[in-house]
Amino acid sequence: MPPRAFFKIPILAFLAVTFNGCAQPESPPPAGMPSGKSPLAATATSPYAGGKVNFVRDIKPIFELRCINCHNRKVLHGRMSLESRETAFGNSPTGAFIVPGNPEASVLFQNVVAHKTRENAMPPVGVRPLKHEKDLIYAWIKEGADWPAGKSGRIKPTQIPLE
Ligand code: HEC
Repeated sequence: MPPRAFFKIPILAFLAVTFNGCAQPESPPPAGMPSGKSPLAATATSPYAGGKVNFVRDIKPIFELRCINCHNRKVLHGRMSLESRETAFGNSPTGAFIVPGNPEASVLFQNVVAHKTRENAMPPVGVRPLKHEKDLIYAWIKEGADWPAGKSGRIKPTQIPLE
């Protein structure tokens, strides 16, 4: 087993337990956790109506709902953090997370559309991004991956206490 895969087992086990809304839908979630079978509700992001993608309106809710509780500086220390533009634009061993203008070359997009059986499929547990969310992420990167600096561009982890 390659060393990277070896490391991933405890991380994923931890995350699967933390995201117990996915693993054990019948047990009540702890206070503060979203209730029900899917904390990543299917209807929580708006459909893609075409037109220019707006980061705050279209992309931020997807990252908030499906990514940020793992991809922040505390949970995945040293990995891609989606907390702000500054922390999200980095490189993985296989390439840049986000290549403005080129979704196919962006590791973030590759991972979002990877088949669920692939080890890089994101998120690794729980509900996969919906078709319109993949389309939005594709269009957003294609249009240049605009991500405002400052408060409107910041995304906070919501479900996992940071301390
Ligand atoms: C349940 C936790 C979890 C969720 C939710 C999650 N990821 Fe990840 N993600 C991981 C882990 C763990 C890795 C590291 C995998 C490895 O060992 O290579 C990773 C790796 C990545 C990478 C490669 C960059 C890096 O830092 O290694 C990208 C890009 C990525 N995820 C994007 C996303 C996106 C986009 C979403 C939301 C659609 C998402 N992830 C949701 C856990 C998660």
